[in-house]
Amino acid sequence: MDTILTLFIAFILSSILTYIIRKNRPTMDVQRLPPSPLRLPFIGNLHQIVVGEHIHETLWKLSQKYGPTMLLHFGSQPYLVISSSEMAVEVLKTHDLAMCTRPRSKTVKRMTFNYMDVAFSPYDDHWKDMRKVLVSEFLGAKRTKSFKNIMEIELEGLLRSLSMQPLNTTVNLDDTILNLVYDVVCKVSFGRSYRETSFNGKTLKEMIDETAEMLMGSIFDIFPSFAWIDELRGFNRRLDKCFNDINSFLQMVIDEHRLEPNVSKKSNAEKDLIDDCIPRLTNDEMKAILLNILNGAIDTSSTTVVWAMSEIVKNPRIMEKLQNEIRGCVGKKSKVEESDIAKMKYLKMVVKESLRLHAPTSALILRECVTHCQIGGYDILPGTKVLVNLWGIGRDPRIWKEKPNEFWPERFETLDVEYIGKHCEMIPFGGGRRACPGYNMGISTVEYTIANLLNFFDWETPMGVNKQDLDMDKVGEFIRRKNPLCLVPIKHNLQD
Ligand code: HEM
Repeated sequence: MDTILTLFIAFILSSILTYIIRKNRPTMDVQRLPPSPLRLPFIGNLHQIVVGEHIHETLWKLSQKYGPTMLLHFGSQPYLVISSSEMAVEVLKTHDLAMCTRPRSKTVKRMTFNYMDVAFSPYDDHWKDMRKVLVSEFLGAKRTKSFKNIMEIELEGLLRSLSMQPLNTTVNLDDTILNLVYDVVCKVSFGRSYRETSFNGKTLKEMIDETAEMLMGSIFDIFPSFAWIDELRGFNRRLDKCFNDINSFLQMVIDEHRLEPNVSKKSNAEKDLIDDCIPRLTNDEMKAILLNILNGAIDTSSTTVVWAMSEIVKNPRIMEKLQNEIRGCVGKKSKVEESDIAKMKYLKMVVKESLRLHAPTSALILRECVTHCQIGGYDILPGTKVLVNLWGIGRDPRIWKEKPNEFWPERFETLDVEYIGKHCEMIPFGGGRRACPGYNMGISTVEYTIANLLNFFDWETPMGVNKQDLDMDKVGEFIRRKNPLCLVPIKHNLQD
C-alpha cells in the first residue's frame, strides 16, 4: 500500500513540476519564428530556391516579400536568411558569439582533416589557435614582406611578357591573373609554384577547384536520412578521390620540406611557410591550413581583379580618370611602388565599388546558431544555419540610394563606408569573429595588380566588341564571369 501511495505522490509531484517547467520555458511555447514562405513536406522550401538561375538573386527576391530575417527549410534543415545591413549587424556584431560556429558536414569534415582548419572549424579553442597561427605565419610581417617581393617579381614578368606580344594580341585576363596569384601564393607557401605540375593526372588548380566544390556539401547535409543517395550517385567515391589526391599532394610537399638536407642552414628570411610551420603544427593541421590558404586567397583576389577590370574597361570615363591618377602618382618610374598606391584615392574607391557589386562570394560562409537568441525580434533556435546574403546587401537601394546597381566609385567621396565596419553596409569580407583574416592582403593584391596593369598598358576590347557592350554575365555562387574577360593590351609609352 505504502509503495502505491509513494508512487502516486511521485507521479503528482512530477506532473506539477513538468507543468511549471513548461509554463516558464520561453522558447517552445511562445516562439516567434521569422516569416517563411510556405514549405512543402520533405523538401521544405527547396522548390522556391532552385527556380532561378542564381540562388542569391532568388533569395534576395524572396526577402523583398518575407523580410530581411527569413526562415527557410532545405530538406529538414532550418536556414535563417539575412538580407539587410541592420540584420547583418545583429548576426555579426550583437549576437556574434551565439552565431559564430560553422555547421558540421560530412564533406567538410573530410576536406578539413576533421575540422583542423580555420574557415570551417567549429568555434572552439582549436579554431582560436589555428587562426592565430594563420595570422602570425601567413599574414604576419615576414610573410607579407615576402608576398610583396614575390608579387613584384611575378608582376614584372607578366608585364614584360605582355609587352613582348605581337600587336593586337587578345589576352584572357581571367587565366592570366589567376596564374599570377597562384604562382605568388604557392611560392610564398611552398617555396615554388606547383601550378603546372601534374599530380595523379591532375593539376593543382583542378584539385583546388574540386575541393572547393566538395566544401559546398552534399545531399546528406540537407537530407541526413538519405545518405545512401550520395553512395548511389557516386558522390562518396568522388569525395574519397578528391581527398586522396589533395592529401597526397600536400603530404608530398610537406615531406619534401622535412627531408630537405639544408633546411637547418636556411636563414630566417629564406624559410617559407611550411618550413616555419613544421615545428608548430601536426601534419593534418598543416594540410588543413594550406588548403584554407589555397582556397581562400587565390580565387577571391584574382576574381576581384577581373571584375574590377571588366567595370573599368566598360566605363572609359572611369578608366581615363583612374589612369590619370595612377600615372600621375607613379610618374616616369619603371615600377609602381607601395608608397604610390597609398596616394591613389580613386583607385581605392574603384576597388571598393568593385567589391560592393562583385564580391567574389554571394554569401558569407555558413554559420550556425549555438544558443537561442533573437534577431530582428524573432526567435532563432540552436541548430539553425545562418546564411548572410552579401550580394543583396551590397546593392540594397535603402542603403545605396544613388544608382545602387551602377558602377559609380565616386559615391565613396561622400560615403564613409569601411570594409569591415560598424554598420555592415557592405560585407565582402564578412564581420565579427569569423571575418576574413586575409582582407588586407586581398585588398593590397587587388590594388597593386590593377595599378600595374593600368600604368603600363591601355586596355581595349577585341575588334568588333564595343566597350559599353562588354558582357557582365556571371555564374555560380562563387561569382565568376561566365565568359572570360578577353582584352587587348596596348603598351603605354612612359615618356608621354
Ligand atoms: C579579395 C580577397 C578576399 C575576399 C573577398 C575574401 C572574402 C572572405 C569572406 C566573405 C569570408 C567569410 C567571412 C565570414 O564568414 O564572416 C572569408 C573568410 C576567410 N578568408 Fe577570406 N577573402 C579574401 C582574401 C583572403 C586571403 C588573402 C586569405 C589568406 C589566407 C583569406 C583567408 C580566409 C580565411 C582563413 C577565412 C575563414 C575565417 C574564419 O572562419 O575564421 N581570405 N574571406
